[in-house]
Amino acid sequence: MKLDRGYLIALEGVDGTGKSTQCGLLADFLEATGYPVVRLREPTAGVWGQKIRTILTEGRGDVSPEEELQYFINDRKEDVEQNIAPALKQGKIVLIDRYYYSTAAYQGALGFDPQKIIEDNEVFAPRPDLLFIIQGSLDESFRRIERGREGFSSFEKRDYLEKVRKIFDTFTGDHIRRINGDPPIEEVQQVLRQEVHVLLGIKEIS
Ligand code: TYD
Repeated sequence: MKLDRGYLIALEGVDGTGKSTQCGLLADFLEATGYPVVRLREPTAGVWGQKIRTILTEGRGDVSPEEELQYFINDRKEDVEQNIAPALKQGKIVLIDRYYYSTAAYQGALGFDPQKIIEDNEVFAPRPDLLFIIQGSLDESFRRIERGREGFSSFEKRDYLEKVRKIFDTFTGDHIRRINGDPPIEEVQQVLRQEVHVLLGIKEIS
């Protein structure tokens, strides 16, 4: 199915909300419907993304919060240049699991100004057509994180995630949809599909 232009859809939220599962299901659904879909995630698997993943698993070490913020920006610049912008130009639907709102929320929770992070990113990163912020109870998030992993990364301490979540709550804009992530996966998925149908101008939902 051909689209009139490319569309960028981002999924955001604290860890353990089911965001990545939802992103995968949405990508599968849109592909099965016949749309050209590119599925991305940040941090990426590129050089900067790998540095970030090392911090996530081994701790920050002597990397300062300023440097860490810069790693995320560098990683995203690469992602925009190599993946996001070309796919949008080719008229594809780009589904991205985390984007610059994560930087605003997570690095914002370290003391940086979230609005300034958003402004700095929007200089080079296209604003999403649709931004899903999936929020649920932190208790449920932690149950999911515990079920899925052996250990907690340095970014998953509860008081930190409380702060991250509060910052996600402050974001505003017509492109933002706040989604309750607590209901069963399929129910949440239906809500996302409805929103995508509206965005793409499709009348029927399957
Ligand atoms: P993610 O890949 O969603 O984690 P996982 O797949 O292991 O669940 O993201 C890794 C972590 O990076 C997550 O805790 C959020 C954090 N993060 C930031 O702090 N800033 C950012 O800009 C991004 C994209 C992620």
